[in-house]
Amino acid sequence: MIIMFEELEDIRQRCLKCEKCSLCKTRTNIVFSDGIPNNKLVLVGEAPGYWEDQKGKPFVGKAGQLLDKIFACVGLSREKDVYICNTIKCRPPENRNPLPEEKEACREYLDAQLEILKPKIILICGSVALNSLLPNESGITRVRGKWFEGKNGAKMMPIFHPSYLLRNDSREKGSPKWLMWQDIKEVKRVYDELK
Ligand code: URA
Repeated sequence: MIIMFEELEDIRQRCLKCEKCSLCKTRTNIVFSDGIPNNKLVLVGEAPGYWEDQKGKPFVGKAGQLLDKIFACVGLSREKDVYICNTIKCRPPENRNPLPEEKEACREYLDAQLEILKPKIILICGSVALNSLLPNESGITRVRGKWFEGKNGAKMMPIFHPSYLLRNDSREKGSPKWLMWQDIKEVKRVYDELK
C-alpha cells in the first residue's frame, strides 16, 4: 500500500511540472485524483471543469455531487471506496472536450495510475473516457452497463456521465437515470464479490 502511495505521488509530481500540452498555460491546478488508492474500484471521468481546476480535485461541481449520491445509493463511499481520476489532468478552456493531442499527451499519466492500482473494476464515465479506454467502441448509450475486459484482468464498465443525467430529469423506466441505477446496482453486485 505504501509503495502504491509513493508511486502515485511520483506521477502526481510529474503532472505538477508537466508542460506537454498547452493546457499547462491555462490551468490553476492539476486535477490528479481523489479517494483512497485501492485495487478494487476506479472511476475515470473526462476532464476537470471550472471547480475542479480551482480546487485541484475531480468531480467537485454539480456532476460530482450527483456522482457521490449515486455511489451512496448502493452503500459505496466516494471518499473510502472509490479512486477517481480523469482522462486528462488539466481543464480545457471553456470546458470544451479535450483535443486528441491533449489526451495523447496526458495518456501516460492515466496509464501509469491504472498500472499502479491494477483495479479490478474500472468505471468509464462518459463518452470522452470511453473513447480513450475503449477506442473501438462507440456510443455510450449502446455500451453502457456492459462489462469489457481490460488490462491486468480489470472488468471495465462504461456508464453515463453524471452531467448527462443532470440534463435528463426523468426517472422513468428506460430513462438515463433509471439506466444508471441498473448499472450501479450491477457494479455493486460485482464489487461485493471481490475479495
Ligand atoms: N467531469 C469530469 O469528467 N471530471 C471531473 O473531474 C469533473 C467533471
